[in-house]
Parts: sequence; structure tokens; C-alpha cells
Amino acid sequence: MKGIVLAGGHGTRLAPLTDAVSKQLLPVYDKPVIHYPLATLLLAGIRDVVIISTPRDLPLIRNLLGSGEQLGIRITYREQVRPEGIGQAFLIAEDDIEGSPVCLILGDNFFYGHELSNMLQKSAKLQRGANVYAYQVADPERYGVLEIDPQGRAICIEEKPNRPKSNWAVTGLYFYDETVVSVAKSIRPSTRGELEITDINRHYIDKGELTVTRLGRGFAWLDTGTFDSLLDASLFVKTIEVRQGTKISCIEEIAFRQGFIDERQLLALAEKYRNSRYGQYLGSLISSELS
Ligand code: DAU
Repeated sequence: MKGIVLAGGHGTRLAPLTDAVSKQLLPVYDKPVIHYPLATLLLAGIRDVVIISTPRDLPLIRNLLGSGEQLGIRITYREQVRPEGIGQAFLIAEDDIEGSPVCLILGDNFFYGHELSNMLQKSAKLQRGANVYAYQVADPERYGVLEIDPQGRAICIEEKPNRPKSNWAVTGLYFYDETVVSVAKSIRPSTRGELEITDINRHYIDKGELTVTRLGRGFAWLDTGTFDSLLDASLFVKTIEVRQGTKISCIEEIAFRQGFIDERQLLALAEKYRNSRYGQYLGSLISSELS
């Protein structure tokens, strides 16, 4: 399965923070925002990733993550000239997807919880239909909202409804079979001029091919799209990391534990960051493996 991180958009809700820097490069505690969705793809076992961003921000993201070789993965970079919808990601990455199933994650989404990795790896085996992740929220009208039957099947989906049919929001993590590119080509822009991901999902619901993975109360799904949510995410990460002495969504650690890179490669990354506690943490992973 291939992965896409959609990391474009103007980030106007975060101005002036985003006047010079992409919102996906702002910090959530000890790492840039984009590390979190990338970590989710790595946990799913996905090693072939397309990062889509604006012409202004793409070079900066490339400076940060490079070819991906240091993580034992391959990263391709594609421009989205204008934010014309989440669904446009599949058209932009069509040549990279090459007819294989694909996982799309929004560049400002953050997932954390017990057994998440196993759930993601199961989803990454998808060959037919679509699988979305849903989460209960207090303010569903801000999101795509699902109506789910007692068997857990999606009955209907609405984008930012005035009267939500449930509290189950569709998160920014989606798994699709290889037909998603043709589905994206078949839908028309909405009244706000965007290729809506909700229209793509509705297509799969109509065919009875959309499954929902519900993330229960033990999980955290945060986004980083406002000043408050950015700070909340930082405080959440800091609280857990300081308490446990481990790191959340550390891409180098995940690459190492997944066997994408070996000790020698991890050591090189630890060396690169040796002046920061981040680098010291990476170094400690090697010593704990050796002890
Ligand atoms: O976060 C989950 C929600 O994401 C879903 O519940 C909704 O169904 C889905 O439409 C989306 O809603 P948002 O209101 O969060 O979408 P927004 O337009 O803010 O875009 C989400 C992220 O995707 C944002 O970081 C910018 C990026 N993006 C968005 C568009 C429309 C792009 O990179 N390019 C785009 O064209």
C-alpha cells in the first residue's frame, strides 16, 4: 500500500505563525507537525509515501525529510498549486499510486493510543473498498459525520452538517482500494469549489464498501489547525513523553523498530541531532537494544 500525506492549504487560521512557514512545520512539542501523520503511515508499515504541499512549502518539507532514505522509506514530493480539495490528492498522486491501494492522511492529524499500530496494519491490508477511522467528538458539526448502523456499517456521511446525525466524526485518515483515483475523477467540485473527500466516501457507502474503524475513548485524535489545538497537542505530547521517558510519533524510532533501518543508520540520526535531547533519546534506543 502507498501513502499520501496531504500537507497543503494556506494555514490562514494560524496567521501570522504561517506567514513564512507551513503549518505542517510548526512544532508540536519536540517535533514538527508533519512528523505525526508520517509516523502514522510508518506504523501502518507503509514505506512508499507521497507528500503533497504548496509550491511555497514543498521545498521546506523536502529540506526536513529528504528522500526518506534515512528512514528506510521512499518519499516523493508533489505540488498542489491551489487547495482545491482533499480529493484532489488522488489526482495529483495518480502516477505515484500506480494502481495500488492507498492510505491518505491529512498533514495536521495526530493519532495516539494502545494497539493503534495493529489496527493500522490491518487496515493497510485492504484490497477492496474503503476504510475510514471515526472518533467521537463534542462538536461534530465541524467535521464529516457518519451515521453508523448497529453492526458498525456506515449508512450515511455528511460534511459539516448543521444537524449531525451522530457524534462520530470522520478523522483525516482514510484507506482506499486502487479504484479511488477513478472515483476522484468521477466526482464534481462542491459549491465551495473543492473535490470533497466526503463525496468520495459517499461513493463507497453507496456501493456498500465503506467500513468504519471506531477509535474508542482510550485513543487521542487531535488536530493542530488552531492556536488552541496546537498548544493542546504540544501539552499532550509533553505530558506523556515526560512521564514515560519515551517519545510519541518519533519517526526515527518507528523506522528502527519496524526494521526499516538498522542500528548503524539509527546511530547516524542520533549523531545528527546529538546536541538536542531528541538525538540523545535516539542514542538511548541503541544502548537499550544492546543492553
Ligand atoms: O480532520 C478531519 C476532517 O478533515 C474531516 O472530518 C472532514 O470530512 C474533511 O473535509 C476535513 O475537514 P477540514 O475542515 O479539516 O478540512 P480542511 O479544508 O481544513 O483541510 C484539512 C487539511 O488538509 C488542512 O491541513 C489543509 C489540507 N488541505 C486541505 C485542502 C482542502 C490541503 O492540503 N489541500 C486542500 O485542497
